[in-house]
Amino acid sequence: MTSAEAASKHERVRMHVEQMITQGLSPHEKLPTERDLAETLEVNRQTVRRALDDLEREGAVYRMQGAGTFVSAARISKSFELTSFSEDMRARNMRPGSKSVEVGVEAAGQTTGYALNLSPRDDVVRVRRVRTGDDIPICLEASSFAAGSVPGLEDGIIGDSLYDDLRSRFGLVAVRADQEIHAIVLDEAQAAALDTPPFSPAFLVKRTTYDARSRPIEYAESVYRGDRYSYQLSISRP
Ligand code: GLP
Repeated sequence: MTSAEAASKHERVRMHVEQMITQGLSPHEKLPTERDLAETLEVNRQTVRRALDDLEREGAVYRMQGAGTFVSAARISKSFELTSFSEDMRARNMRPGSKSVEVGVEAAGQTTGYALNLSPRDDVVRVRRVRTGDDIPICLEASSFAAGSVPGLEDGIIGDSLYDDLRSRFGLVAVRADQEIHAIVLDEAQAAALDTPPFSPAFLVKRTTYDARSRPIEYAESVYRGDRYSYQLSISRP
């Protein structure tokens, strides 16, 4: 067998398994054994193992020693539109929520000050939340606002959606954002808050949001679990 034939066999197995996942298997459902797949697809077990290795590396499946191979929990795929976390979740038929909401007035510091056109010593209201989808922790978020732009935010009850609160309570409407996405591993505290093992991969998203007059409204740092979140891009040639 040539190496090209071996590659195409393993691709075929992989496509077959991907199809099984998209067309019927649910998250955490068990895949057929390597032997069964090999028999059905008339390839050897090594070819099946190679295809499953690839799918495992991409996070589509996971293996449990002695128990078999299972379909991973679906990632929430995010398109590049300016949406709130709540909108993201609803678009995926998941119930948005937050837990452990902490709100305080703090000095802006260098990074937030720069993003919000404030001096590092100016006050900001900082809202720290663990964001959930169907009660599963997905994102750790710290959002900061110039204290003068959100008077009393720190005293009131924060609703489920900050963007809704900003609009209804302060007339602040987010229309555009600059966003940077970094690959990180979670430290122990972040991992504990997100209910996932330490050193798991994650996205750190830094977002500065602007209103219609290009005034910065919010600077937020959000840490998304890599196993629960992905980005979807539609790209075209210039
Ligand atoms: C996203 C953004 C945050 C923003 C949040 C608002 O997660 N990265 O900057 O604060 O959406 O979401 P919600 O309106 O659900 O609170």
